Amino acid sequence: MTQRVALVTGAMGGLGTAICQELAKAGHKVVAAYHPQFDNKDAWLQEMAEAGFNDFVCVSGDISSLEDCQTMVANAEAAVGQIDVLVNNAGITRDRMFAKMEKDGWDAVIATNLTSLFNMTKQVSAKMSERGWGRIINISSVNGLKGQAGQTNYSAAKAGVIGFTKALAAELATKGVTVNAICPGYVATKMVMAIKPEVLQSIIDGVPMKRLARPEEIGGACVYLASDIAGFMTGSTMNICGGLYYQ
Ligand code: CAA
Repeated sequence: MTQRVALVTGAMGGLGTAICQELAKAGHKVVAAYHPQFDNKDAWLQEMAEAGFNDFVCVSGDISSLEDCQTMVANAEAAVGQIDVLVNNAGITRDRMFAKMEKDGWDAVIATNLTSLFNMTKQVSAKMSERGWGRIINISSVNGLKGQAGQTNYSAAKAGVIGFTKALAAELATKGVTVNAICPGYVATKMVMAIKPEVLQSIIDGVPMKRLARPEEIGGACVYLASDIAGFMTGSTMNICGGLYYQ
């Protein structure tokens, strides 16, 4: 069988790295999309090579820009062919209590975590439909389901990701293209480690499993959703949060 191509946004972050690695282990050709301001690309590639991942293709752009997304996907297609699997993973936080939140912190999170799904998915969904096969995997969050104090922007964007997922899943259901969301809980990444230690400890205390997720536990779910065997699953939200929230 021809090797499938998976493009992962936010590929060089904690979660993105694990998603790239798990998809590569499962036999995908991986395109790692990263923000132009990320200046550790070479070090990341070196680290990946040392871990045995030698053939990641990199494309760079700001996912909150439609033009950048057009260019990134065009560059990826020129390098490795059509995108079969899109993982909309990139995301940011600008945590503040709502009383203190400024408009720029709201706008940045909505643009990067939600509008990016329009920008990226637009580049691939019609072509996937024409070919009769595709997988769109959107990384939402447990906080898009339950709401989190200090994250009105992030919770709103991640809830929006779920709505987008369900609506597009319905549109593409007869086209061989599935659209699913994953709602990770708190994962052991830099983003989560940036929370004040005492706040983070109280969050972990509230997780029934009393630990953070390992990034590969989310990467593994992407592998499943990207596979043929997941072909009957669409419009779903997979909660991977150690029991923190049940829908
Ligand atoms: N619920 C309700 N009120 C809360 C609260 C909570 N969970 N946590 C704090 N507060 C209240 C405090 O009691 C305090 O109230 P008073 O002023 O009346 O005493 C007030 O909020 C403190 O507000 P400040 O703005 O002064 O707080 P701060 O600046 O020290 O911290 C914060 C604000 C940065 C948002 C901090 O609370 C925080 O980091 N919270 C955690 C946010 C979080 O979970 N982020 C997840 C990041 S990881 C991620 O997003 C990945 C993913 O998908 C899970």
